[in-house]
Amino acid sequence: IGRHIVYKKEVTSTQDIAHQLVQEGAEEGTIVIADKQTKGKGRLGRPWHSMEEKGLWFSIILRPDIPPQVAPQLTLLTAVAVQEGLERATDLPVEIKWPNDILLRGKKIAGILTEMHSELDRIQAIVVGIGLNVNQQKTDFPEELSAVATSLSMEANGKVFQRSDVIVSVLEKYEHWYYKYLDQGFFPIKKRWEQLATTIGKEITAKTMRKEVQGIAEGITDEGVLLIRKKDGTLESVYSADID
Ligand code: BTN
Repeated sequence: IGRHIVYKKEVTSTQDIAHQLVQEGAEEGTIVIADKQTKGKGRLGRPWHSMEEKGLWFSIILRPDIPPQVAPQLTLLTAVAVQEGLERATDLPVEIKWPNDILLRGKKIAGILTEMHSELDRIQAIVVGIGLNVNQQKTDFPEELSAVATSLSMEANGKVFQRSDVIVSVLEKYEHWYYKYLDQGFFPIKKRWEQLATTIGKEITAKTMRKEVQGIAEGITDEGVLLIRKKDGTLESVYSADID
């Protein structure tokens, strides 16, 4: 991971550049990183605020030989690597919340966007986009984000972090978990994710589009589906929801 790095000062989105490089045959592990994104992309078509040179905005190109339906495993793997990498670099209490939020004291510190290129039933490439809020201060965030987003620096009393130390720490963890995944499959990642995710083992309410499911979050499946044990003892699968 990261043997080949493409660095740009300003881009629309590192995802756009990475997708283009995939088409040109870029090798696995290629990373695209930019100081600023003018059109950063978040999940569900939302924008991702990344105009500042104070965060880390990058995309990793992977070419695992897996079927598309297990692609969410890469998102969970990424959450584990980001959690461990950030915690090691900063000593701050970084949390994972299902499905793939990375939080610090309840506010969003990082975002993960996984997009894939697939052909028939095989994946051609996966582009994993990672956004890390590093040295932003409160006034760097737009008004509507200040209640829900934070940065490493804001949570460490204004300490300024070396962005290169932070990314190296995350990429080292990434490499560790990615090769373990290729070698041993999803099981070790799933175990680690369940240890780190604050959602697991707790009484939660999952609000899906159609209903609310209440119970104890027991774990996740190989497809990244959340399993909730309800009061009546039955197990319910939740594919997509907001968790309280
Ligand atoms: C989310 O909605 O939580 C995911 C945000 C992902 C942001 C990163 S920043 C680097 C890469 N390029 C983008 O345009 N998005 C991802």
